[in-house]
Amino acid sequence: MKRIVVTGSLGQIGTELVVYLRKIYGVDNVLATGRRLKDPNNIAVTSGEFKIMNVGVPKDIGEVCAAYKADAIIHLAGVLSANAEKDPALAWETNMIGLYNVLEVARELRLAVFFPSSIAAFGPSTPADNTPQDTLQRPTTMYGVTKVAGELLSDYYAMRYEVDVRGLRFPGIISYEAEPGGGTTDYAVHIYWEAIRKAAYTSYIAKGTLMDMMYMPDALDAVTKLMEADPAKLKHRNCFNITAMSFDPEKLADSIRKYIPDFVLDYDVDPIRQRIANSWPNSLDDSCARAEWGYSPKYDLDAMTRDMLEKIRVKLGK
Ligand code: SER
Repeated sequence: MKRIVVTGSLGQIGTELVVYLRKIYGVDNVLATGRRLKDPNNIAVTSGEFKIMNVGVPKDIGEVCAAYKADAIIHLAGVLSANAEKDPALAWETNMIGLYNVLEVARELRLAVFFPSSIAAFGPSTPADNTPQDTLQRPTTMYGVTKVAGELLSDYYAMRYEVDVRGLRFPGIISYEAEPGGGTTDYAVHIYWEAIRKAAYTSYIAKGTLMDMMYMPDALDAVTKLMEADPAKLKHRNCFNITAMSFDPEKLADSIRKYIPDFVLDYDVDPIRQRIANSWPNSLDDSCARAEWGYSPKYDLDAMTRDMLEKIRVKLGK
């Protein structure tokens, strides 16, 4: 990658990925874009160029990418799992039509594409423990449907039109810079803020619900590593299982108690997000990512907890 356009730049991952890419590829080689400028103080906006671009309008994507002389598009714009259940039509429009438009522009302009899939691409009939790279994918959420279809569409464009599309099945991503919006794994971010504010958190996800997670620095590293990987070594494309840890709310609370001993966790389970979580794997097998392009996360649960609490304390001045 040399000249990169990022969609969904103001989201949880986009905000940090734009800054990370600017450090590696140069400020003038990474264009942040979004449907609207929802926060002018977002670091993806203040650290370089930002343009309004709607992934629902193919002409916009084509014009912006051509004018920027982009060779890669990192396509993060999307509606997350819980929001997709609230508005399935919007999720289909944004996640499916948006991806189709991006792939069409990539085909015409010969751009590489990064596509973020998710643990949501699996469903209740998938083996839940140590979920293999290649397995049954029959998700029961609209978000999951768009992710499986997106994986297939991306592989189709790679095979049929030789578009260099690569992707990751992200687990829940934990970070402190920009809030996650409308996901099922968001509890694992909110809990840290409430731990510092009140030493207490009420979880909408039930005790015992295991989900894969990773800390943002490992996610950023994974995106660039995959996009720069030697294509000859890639047996898979869309998309690679990756994970750094798997926990339930109790295990996360235990980790927080190592630093905040009086932290209290209780529950008020949200049936919609619980149903979504129940349909996802407990833990992924990411051995293909490790073998094919050297995926190797650095943060385990306690290392992440220590860093999250430290960084949030600074943000809150506590
Ligand atoms: N973090 C996402 C969500 O909860 C999973 O891809 O929707």
